[in-house]
Amino acid sequence: MVEETARAIAYRHALNEIRIPALERIELYERSSGETSDVVQKQLYRVPRAAESAAGEGDQALRPEGTPGVIRAYIDAGLDRSDPEQRFFYCGSMFRYERPQKGRLRQFNQFGVEIFGRADAACDAELIIMIDEFRRALGLDVRFEVNSLGDGQCRPAFRAALLEWGRAHYSELCEDCHQRLERNPLRLLDCKTDAELAKSAPSSLDYLCEPCRTHFGAVERMIGVAGVPYEVNPRLVRGLDYYTRTTFEVTSSAVGAQSAIVAGGRYDGLVEALGGAAIPGTGFAIGVERTALALAPERYGAGGAPDVAIIAIGAGAVDYAIGLAWELRAAGRRVELFSPERGVKALLKRADKLGVRHALIVGDDEIRTGVVQVKDLRAGVQTAVPRAGVAAAVSRDAD
Ligand code: HAM
Repeated sequence: MVEETARAIAYRHALNEIRIPALERIELYERSSGETSDVVQKQLYRVPRAAESAAGEGDQALRPEGTPGVIRAYIDAGLDRSDPEQRFFYCGSMFRYERPQKGRLRQFNQFGVEIFGRADAACDAELIIMIDEFRRALGLDVRFEVNSLGDGQCRPAFRAALLEWGRAHYSELCEDCHQRLERNPLRLLDCKTDAELAKSAPSSLDYLCEPCRTHFGAVERMIGVAGVPYEVNPRLVRGLDYYTRTTFEVTSSAVGAQSAIVAGGRYDGLVEALGGAAIPGTGFAIGVERTALALAPERYGAGGAPDVAIIAIGAGAVDYAIGLAWELRAAGRRVELFSPERGVKALLKRADKLGVRHALIVGDDEIRTGVVQVKDLRAGVQTAVPRAGVAAAVSRDAD
């Protein structure tokens, strides 16, 4: 359900699917996700090329995220020079060595989007609007938080201000923040332990240069016009180091402590840092399992309840039921042929529990008289329908 919905939206936004390998060189992640990020420092599943290879030599890692691999593939294909404006989506397993808990898995799936060659605010806004379409389609109750982290022009001043603030409050900071302070002071802002203290820290928005301020203002205006219910969170920094300007996170209170179901932002220097041309990029990734957790249980399944359940009584009726199921599937219905080894009463109960709309019952009598018993489980009414009229009786128009 989560992936299908995201795919349909990606199609309407003219994105193209890209498949990237699960294994990439460790160096790729060190240079993109960030050497100081938790993802690289603590969470990489490192895979030695061969047991006898020298430590570190040629080593690869299971991908902890999709962005670096997509960029690597984009550069390898020469698109950064030949045809830089590209719009991709991908879906697949990611691996992070974390302490597992509700919503935090060591292997999980992401549905990601990456757009290259667009530096304009409308592209950032489009991504956020895309996520809004996604949450509307699934009926999710979420919060959108957006921020701007500035760029190469204005970020150094912000970083320096944070460093100064961190040094002034050193004795109040937690152990982890002592580590973060010199390496990556931006991470002081999203420390869970020092959350109260971080409220007095400098805000990135106060340090934005004019072009970054204008860009962020335009993003805000456009998502506002589109009716996205967002809030600006000046303390929103991300766990990955590559972001510039717009960053965002979408959270759901239904998931528990690991509440971010979608996250992303702009990463304008990253293609170049990975050896490509100076091409801007922006994207996001949906956490598939976390989104599924945020869904109401009846929407959790891949495609919802079957439209039709077929109950065959007796061996002869099974052959007949297979043909009937084939015909209804060809007409686009979602059909489950129930086990002929169980009784009608139990199977009708199962159909009811699954939320099936129509149950079809066929036995020797029905086959002989050319009818099928059609039970409308919502209305609780059963009718003998001539075989030729069954598809029409269970079609969506009959609802
Ligand atoms: P991220 O915030 O690390 O960003 O992950 C995106 C989403 O993946 C999270 O919001 C969450 O829903 C899900 N996720 C992350 N870790 C786990 C886990 N251990 N278990 C379950 N779900 C998890 C990125 O990965 C960036 N590559 C997003 C991006 C794309 N930015 C630009 N383009």
